Formats: sequence, C-alpha cells, structure tokens
Amino acid sequence: MNSRVTINGINIIVKGEKTILAVCREAGIHIPTLCHDERLEPYGGCRLCLVEIKGTARPLAACTTPVQDGMEISTESETLTRLRRTTLSLILSNHPGDCMCCEKAGDCDLQELAYMYNIEPGEFAGEKWDLPVREDNPFITYEPNKCILCARCARICNEVVMAETIAITGRGFYAMPDTAFRKARSLENCEFCGQCVSACPTGALTDRKGRGRGRSLGMKKVKTTCSYCGTGCNFYLNVKDNRVVKVTSDYDAPVNKGNLCIKGRYGYDFIHSPDRIKTPLIKRDGVFHEATWDEALELTAKKFKELVEKHGPEKVGGFSSSRCTNEENYLLSKWVRCAIGSNNVDNCARV
Ligand code: FES
Repeated sequence: MNSRVTINGINIIVKGEKTILAVCREAGIHIPTLCHDERLEPYGGCRLCLVEIKGTARPLAACTTPVQDGMEISTESETLTRLRRTTLSLILSNHPGDCMCCEKAGDCDLQELAYMYNIEPGEFAGEKWDLPVREDNPFITYEPNKCILCARCARICNEVVMAETIAITGRGFYAMPDTAFRKARSLENCEFCGQCVSACPTGALTDRKGRGRGRSLGMKKVKTTCSYCGTGCNFYLNVKDNRVVKVTSDYDAPVNKGNLCIKGRYGYDFIHSPDRIKTPLIKRDGVFHEATWDEALELTAKKFKELVEKHGPEKVGGFSSSRCTNEENYLLSKWVRCAIGSNNVDNCARV
C-alpha cells in the first residue's frame, strides 16, 4: 500500500512499509545515525536520528518509526540540532580524545558527526572508562574505551552471523560488549569473520592485520569478487604502496551486502606470498622447470590429443570449480565439448 508523506516540505509517495530513515535515505535526505546498520534490525539506541512529526508530542527515532499516510516530518530544526549536539557531547564525554593517532581516524562515524555538529571536547565532565586494549583475538583489536554502546557488533554477531559470541554485558556505566564471563574472544565460539569490525562505527573494533599500515583515506579501494567460493561476495581491497593492507566491506554489494566470512575478510596473505607460482611449470625427469605459457599450452594440447586418440573422447571429462567465474566455467564446458568432443562436464557447485 502506498502512503503520502511530506518530508521537509517535499511530497513523497512511499511504496510499502518503510521506516522514516529508509524513506529519507532513498530520497537523499541526510539523517545522522550511529546505531543504525542496514544489515540489522532497527535498534533505536543512539537517538541521533530523531525527527519531528507534526502532531507528535516529542521527536521520534527515524530508524524505528514506520511512515504513516499523511505524516509531516521535519529532519532539521533548532531543537533537533540541540538534541543531537547534546547526545554527541554526552557520548564524547566518555571517549578518548586520541583521534590523531586512532586507527579509525578519517573513517569514523563519530568523528564525522562531531565535526558536522561542531562539538567542542569537554562540554560534559564525568567518569571515563580506562580499560586496557584487548588483543585476545588473532584478527581483531578491541579498544573498549572507544565503544559507544551502539551494540552493532553484538547485534551483527547474533542477528547475521548467529555465532552469539558477544552481547552487551553489565549495566549502566559498566555496560560493555563482551563475551560470556569476559573470556578471550578466541576462546569463545568466535568465527573470526570480522563482521563486528565491519559494523563498528568507531575505533573500538579494528582489524589487527591492517593496524598501523595506513589511514583508510590514503588507501586505494579496489572493488573485487572473492575467489574462495561460488557465492561471489564483493569487497574492497585496500591497497597502499601496491600492497593489499586490508579488506573492507562493500555495503552495496548485491550478493553479500557488506557481509563476509573469515576467508573473504582475512584470507588475503597469499596475494603477496613469495611461494606463489607465477609462471607455468613443466615436470621433466621428476623436477619442475619454469616454462612460458606457449610451451605449457602446447604440451597440454599435445598430451590431450594423444589421450583422445588412444582412448577416445568419451574417456576425457572436465570438472570445473565454483571458485572460477561464470565465463571460465563456460569456457571449460565449451573446450571439453568442442575441442575434445565429449559431454563429460561437471562442476562442484552442482550438488
Ligand atoms: Fe536511530 Fe540510532 S540511528 S536511534
């Protein structure tokens, strides 16, 4: 069912059931958020996305409020700016001011919003966390002092990965995302997928492998497709000085929407491995020798020809891999059928 709403004086027709935030994003209207993540259920925790709705006593969170026919919504006003500034100042009152050397600087949602709303440090004074940095996970560094309790890490671990490794533990000032009984993450059932890192809006959770190897803004982002399985997840290789420093999510990827498994997010060391085979190898007298592609292809064609002549084409088959692209699988099929003359073609993804 369609509904008609007005946002900042603009008439918008909304198809189906959507939240105010979703409609605003589709219409290109910016609303600040910290706890919202497109991959998760609406949470309504940070209260930065407050909007005013005519006839409603107080501002409501755009991320959890569904649009209703006839709504008149304002996303900007003096009151909203004041509320957002207060919320950000309160968050920053218990946040280390080490932006200059923070791993996430330049790519931090909190830093960006503090800049946008011109927040002066120290507007509110109060107790601050002073907790040690945790490196009890081989892939993830956890700086609890930088946590803003948006719960995106715990929610993605529970709602998307379903590993249920982390939850918000403690209450009040002592609330904190953590494992059961604060055990090392690597000892719990962590899948090392780094989904929590991808969901964290601040520098609380960062990739250990990429730490200190360059600012996100200074890296070339190369969009690519994971080659570990046939799902076809997209992500960005972050490249600095011609070396892959880390992998970050592509939230617009049609297949995986920014989600990745351990292999996709952290399994990139092979790219620069000195053991990687870079030229074809031909075995002579039991020893591999480097060869040119022409030599290798000529030898392979000759051997196949001999096999087909000796045993017949039906004795030859091709088995391709879901790690290959569609085009490569198609070429293998074509080669077996046309060049060999056999219909023995299969793929590991078929079953
Ligand atoms: Fe709506 Fe946090 S984004 S409350």
